[in-house]
This record gives sequence, C-alpha cells and structure tokens, in this order.
Amino acid sequence: STQYEHILTSRPNPSVALITLNRPKALNALSTPLFLELNKALFDADADQGIGAIVLTGSDKAFAAGADIKEMKDKEFSDVYKNNFLANWGELSRLRKPVIAAVSGYALGGGCELALMCDIILASPTAKFGQPEINLGVIPGGGGSQRLVHAIGKSRAMELVLTGRMVSAQEADQWGMISRVTDNVVEEAIKMATEISSKGQLAVQAGKEVVNAGYELTLAEGLRFERRTFHGLFATKDQKEGMAAFAEKRKAEFTHS
Ligand code: CAA
Repeated sequence: STQYEHILTSRPNPSVALITLNRPKALNALSTPLFLELNKALFDADADQGIGAIVLTGSDKAFAAGADIKEMKDKEFSDVYKNNFLANWGELSRLRKPVIAAVSGYALGGGCELALMCDIILASPTAKFGQPEINLGVIPGGGGSQRLVHAIGKSRAMELVLTGRMVSAQEADQWGMISRVTDNVVEEAIKMATEISSKGQLAVQAGKEVVNAGYELTLAEGLRFERRTFHGLFATKDQKEGMAAFAEKRKAEFTHS
C-alpha cells in the first residue's frame, strides 16, 4: 500500500477505509502536499470494490485547523488565480462512496469546510467548528460560505463567516450542522460505515447521489431525478433480493449487483 507522510490509512474492517489526518505539530493544517495525499487515498478507497464507506478523521485536538496559513501567507493574487488555489479541495465531493467525518477538537476554516464536504458529520463533545478566515483578512475559500448556508441557513452562516466565532459540538448539533454528538467518535463512525457497507452498494451510491443532487437542482428537477433513480434500482438484483428477503422474513444477502 502507498506510504504517506501527512495522513495515515487503515482498514478497521474489510469494508471500511479509515483515513486519519496526521500533521500533529500543525494541528492538521491542510497543506497542499497533505491534500494531494488525501485525495489519492480517497480515490483509492472509492475505487476499491471491497470498501463500502470511508471514515475521515484527525486527532483528539484537531480534525484540522484550516488551510496552512504559513504556506499561504506570501502568495500573490496572480499565483492563487493562475493555479486555481484550493480548486482540488472539491475533489472529495466527486466520490461516489459515502464519507463520514469523525470530528474531535478544532475544525476551523478549511477544516470546517472539509467536514462539510463529507456526507455525514459525527462530532465528539470536544469538537469546535468555525470559519475564522475573517481574522486573517480573507473569507472561506473551500466552500464554507456556500455549504454552511445549506446546512444552517443564512443568518447563522453569516454570523460564522463575519465574526469568526467558534461553535461547540452541542451548538452545531442544535443547528443541524452535524448528525450527532457522541463519545468515541471514530469508533461510532466506523460502526456507521460498517452498517452502510452491509447494504446494497448500488442503492447506497444512488442514495448519496440523489441527496447531493438536491443541492444543485430545483425541487421539481430533484424529485424527477429521485423518481428515475428509484425506478432504475428495479433493474438490480439487490432490489429483487431485498424485497424477496423481506417477504420471506429473512435477512437480505446483497451482492451489489
Ligand atoms: N496553518 C498553519 N499552521 C497552523 C495552523 C494553520 N491553519 N493552525 C495551527 N497551526 C500551527 C501553529 O502555528 C503552531 O505551530 P508552531 O508550534 O510551529 O508555532 C501549531 O500549529 C500549534 O498551534 P497553536 O500553538 O496556535 O495551538 P493553540 O492550541 O494555542 O491554538 C488554534 C489552536 C486556536 C486552532 C490556533 O492554532 C489557530 O487559531 N489556528 C488557525 C486557525 C485558522 O485561522 N484557520 C483558518 C485558516 S484559513 C483557511 O482555512 C482558508 C480556507 O477557507 C480554505
């Protein structure tokens, strides 16, 4: 398997990929080399037929404290514009398998945005979310201003982006930004990933695709897309097996076909 410098990869069980951000001295600041490794590990896991879901985590102290400020500080407009700085961050949202963020400690700036790019966020009681870019004379550049509006609405998104205030896991939970707060967040995320992996993977992929489509489409288009995708699943063996198993009062044996 690939050796990485800034992340750790493992398989807590055969169907789950665990990716751990690992730049402890910089609180997992998201440098360009780290993001290149992260994208490679994510796409490798996405392409691996044995894996049903991916868990992304950091350390107890920090999920990630944002883009690497030391790397960014001397960049000029011409550099960031020419090279489309941060454009490759969005690659995570092209994955077809579900990604669960297990957040402990700081998820700030790009770290908060990275969590928001994941499909599900679980947080430990220690998690702190925020978009402190305003204190650096900039604004979020990894999608925070847009994804936060979808997640928590305009007023709360505006408050976070304009004040830079950090919110606790509990507050993020009340705001509907995350699924829930839990102790042993990595273990819980692995459990959830394992459960998702036990379902028919075609249906999982379709479920992720239609939920995400809701961000891009009008309601009428989204409903049509959902209906067509639902119809399409009647062409799969997993639909036949899932419904037959229910009628026969037994557990479904999905073959992901
Ligand atoms: N980039 C680079 N290095 C960082 C970093 C970051 N985002 N966050 C922390 N570090 C480094 C610190 O510089 C420090 O390194 P040294 O030991 O070499 O000095 C080390 O990590 C430990 O950090 P602190 O000593 O600051 O730890 P703390 O516990 O006192 O404070 C913190 C923790 C409140 C998270 C503080 O580190 C902090 O405010 N970090 C920056 C948060 C931030 O502004 N994030 C937004 C970045 S911009 C962005 O993300 C743009 C975007 O939209 C994509």
